[in-house]
Amino acid sequence: MAHAILKATGIEKAFYKPLKTDILKSISLEVNYGDTIAITGRSGQGKSTLLQVLGTLEPPCRGTLEIASQKVNFFTKNKIRCNHIAFIFQSFHLLEDYTALENILMPAKIARQNTSRGSAAYKRATELLERIELTNRADYHTKLLSGGEKQRIAIARALCNDPDLILADEPSGNLDKQTSSAIHSLLMDFVKQGNKALIVVTHNSDLASMCDREYELADGILQRKDAESR
Ligand SMILES: Nc1ncnc2c1ncn2[C@@H]1O[C@H](COP(=O)(O)OP(=O)(O)OP(=O)(O)O)[C@@H](O)[C@H]1O
Ligand SMILES: [Mg+2]
Repeated sequence: MAHAILKATGIEKAFYKPLKTDILKSISLEVNYGDTIAITGRSGQGKSTLLQVLGTLEPPCRGTLEIASQKVNFFTKNKIRCNHIAFIFQSFHLLEDYTALENILMPAKIARQNTSRGSAAYKRATELLERIELTNRADYHTKLLSGGEKQRIAIARALCNDPDLILADEPSGNLDKQTSSAIHSLLMDFVKQGNKALIVVTHNSDLASMCDREYELADGILQRKDAESR
């Protein structure tokens, strides 16, 4: 039987300041290990908000969330996030005064792993740098990098800690076609080879069509696209 990494039931989210706005209205989603899921939708429909809620960064107003068979609540969310989830944010959120390599190693550091030269984490980070073709930028502070380079570092950082679930917000938004397609392969290989899961917000039709399922978020509702409309 397929095994769920994420189970969201009846998720609702509203913001109350500066105006009351209902963003998500009763969203249910089950994601199994090995699944790749694309989410599309017009600007402002709540895609980033949905990823924040599914990633335990924002609490839902209603509904329940289980990650790796554990109920997410105020007390469990940080541990669950640290152990299972990685983010690729729409605006990267790199630590700009740290180098590219230090940024990639940051989740391992936060999880208190050994990150010194020669450690398993260090080896993984340098392999990822090679995979994203940025070995020559390892020691650059990320504030010196281009938009697309920052994006690739953010992707390597997400993969470095071997997460079970990757939540990615427009991971190829700033990249040319050739670099995008290399990044898509990196993400897909990681998920399929390691039996991980990916939820990706994207307007890139190549990436969306590589995913097992595609949903559109509109008016707070997540609607699955059928095979003909994909
Ligand atoms: N912390 C917040 N407080 C109040 N309103 C917010 C907050 N975060 C997001 N919103 C509002 O929620 C709506 C959805 O925002 P969100 O960033 O989730 O949209 P999106 O679908 O990711 O858009 P885009 O495609 O432009 O990235 C927007 O109208 C935004 O102004
Ligand atoms: Mg967004």
